[in-house]
Amino acid sequence: MMKPAIKIAPSILAADFARLGEQVAEAERSGADRIHVDVMDGHFVPNISFGAVVVEALRPVTRLPLEVHLMITDPDAFFDEFTAAGADSFLVHWEGNNNLHRTLQRIKASKKRAGVVINPATPATVLEEVLPEVDLVLVMTVNPGFGHQHFLPTTLPKIRRMRETIEQVKPECELELDGGIDATTAPLGVVAGANVLVAGTSVFGDSKGVAAGMASLRAAIQATAN
Ligand code: DX5
Ligand code: ZN
Repeated sequence: MMKPAIKIAPSILAADFARLGEQVAEAERSGADRIHVDVMDGHFVPNISFGAVVVEALRPVTRLPLEVHLMITDPDAFFDEFTAAGADSFLVHWEGNNNLHRTLQRIKASKKRAGVVINPATPATVLEEVLPEVDLVLVMTVNPGFGHQHFLPTTLPKIRRMRETIEQVKPECELELDGGIDATTAPLGVVAGANVLVAGTSVFGDSKGVAAGMASLRAAIQATAN
C-alpha cells in the first residue's frame, strides 16, 4: 500500500491518560505517522499538561517519531531533558522567543528536527528569515492551550500564503496544522496546502474508538484527492 502523502499526528492531550500507552499503540496500528506531545507550563499558555516523563514513558511503546510541541516560556531550558527522554522533533513558538534562530540552531545541533509554530494572530511573514533553518512550520488553527476547540477558518488564507512561501524558499519543509482538525476541517487545511495534521479529539475522542477516528480522518482527506 502506498504511504499517503498527508501525515496524521494524533495529539495525546485528548487521550485517556490512564491508558496512554495502549492508546498510542492503537494510534500506531491505525496508521498514525507521528505522535504529537503538547507540553504546557501554565505561563506561556493558561494550562498545565505534562513534561518529559511522559515522552520517556512512551518511547518504548511506539516506533513512531515523538514530536514535542513546547508551549512553555523557556523552551531552551528543557531541550536536553526531552532529548534524553527520546523526543525526535521540537516545535517551538515564534511568539515570545527573542532568540529564535539560536533556539533552532540548538535543536539542529542535537540532530533533532526543528519546527516553528505561529499562533492565529501572528502573520506568516514573520517566518521569512528563519524558514531556511526549519524542517517544519506549524500554523495553529486554534489559540494554543486547550484541546477540543473549534478550527478557526480565518487561518486558511495564511495557510495558503505559507504554502506559497515554502514552495519558493524551501519546498521540503513540512506545513502542519494544529487545533480543531476533524473530518470536516481536515480537507479545508489540506486544500489550503498543509501536509501534516495534528488531531486530538477527533482521534482519541471518537466514540467508536481510535481506529474509527483515524479511519474517518483518512477518508475525509482521501476525498480531497479525488
Ligand atoms: C492546543 C494543542 C493541540 C491540541 C489539539 O494547544 O497544541 O495540539 O491538543 O487538540 P484538538 O485536536 O482536540 O483541537
Ligand atoms: Zn499541539
